[in-house]
Amino acid sequence: MAASKKITTPALRARKVSGPKLAVVTAYDATFARLFDQAGVDVLLVGDSLGMVVQGQPTTLGVTLDDMIYHGRAVVRGTERAHVVGDLPFMSYQTGVLPALEAAGRMVKEAGYEAVKLEGGVLYADHVRRIVDAGIPVMGHVGLLPQSIHTLGGFKVQGRDAEAAERIIADAQALEQAGAYAIVVEAVPAELAERVTRAVSVPTIGIGAGPHCDGQVLVGYDLLGMYSELRPKFVKRFAEAGEVVVNAARAYVAEVQSGAFPTLAHAFGAPRELPPAPEHTGAKAVVPGTPPTYGPASDES
Ligand code: KIV
Repeated sequence: MAASKKITTPALRARKVSGPKLAVVTAYDATFARLFDQAGVDVLLVGDSLGMVVQGQPTTLGVTLDDMIYHGRAVVRGTERAHVVGDLPFMSYQTGVLPALEAAGRMVKEAGYEAVKLEGGVLYADHVRRIVDAGIPVMGHVGLLPQSIHTLGGFKVQGRDAEAAERIIADAQALEQAGAYAIVVEAVPAELAERVTRAVSVPTIGIGAGPHCDGQVLVGYDLLGMYSELRPKFVKRFAEAGEVVVNAARAYVAEVQSGAFPTLAHAFGAPRELPPAPEHTGAKAVVPGTPPTYGPASDES
């Protein structure tokens, strides 16, 4: 049997010491998963950010466990090498240890996730321990917790005063002790993220947390530059894919309208025996044998 190319949680943990830093990206469908996987991304996170970037909701709170399972299946199908982790959505684990375990179990059994992520530290240590004991790796998440957006009062930098900073460090340590294999550190000052990184022996994965974490995570659509109106300070746009998409779609519209697309080069050959030309009645003629929209890609099939 060929050796698996899959990146495992022990391999991810080892990177804290050996490097290189972990490159994590969110993905929500098979096509982007395949592209990011080909690019060498280590971890694909099916974030509940899908509520905002895919579903167009203002927060992540409306995302359901079924949504996470649906998108997880697609990402898992598109991925060969990267480790695939999915967010436990709001209210799938906050109600207790047992619901948390059941939700994590569904994520693994029904979608094929290799790990789950949940937000919070000390308060959720028992939940993490129980899920890990069942054989499901857990990624923690401290700092800005988008599922607590209404308590926090917005998407704001966390841990700015000493007491809040100490709480975030304690949260990360509680997650490590409960068995988390990695911890996302979101929207905290760079110096605090560095302290968190030193305080735990598992990799920290920063977003809006400066350069000192053991890895970085970005929302895939952010790094691709899909939005012209939204430019958070912590995001680096590695492409202007939004512009590429709009320009390509504009060119398509123009060519369809002018008749420049399609040409005969994009058409299928004639049937072996052409039926007699229909009388012109004003209605659109349908030639028998015309391929359906999603029909064969070549004349050969
Ligand atoms: O939901 C998400 O995409 C996340 C990352 C941004 C860390 O939790």
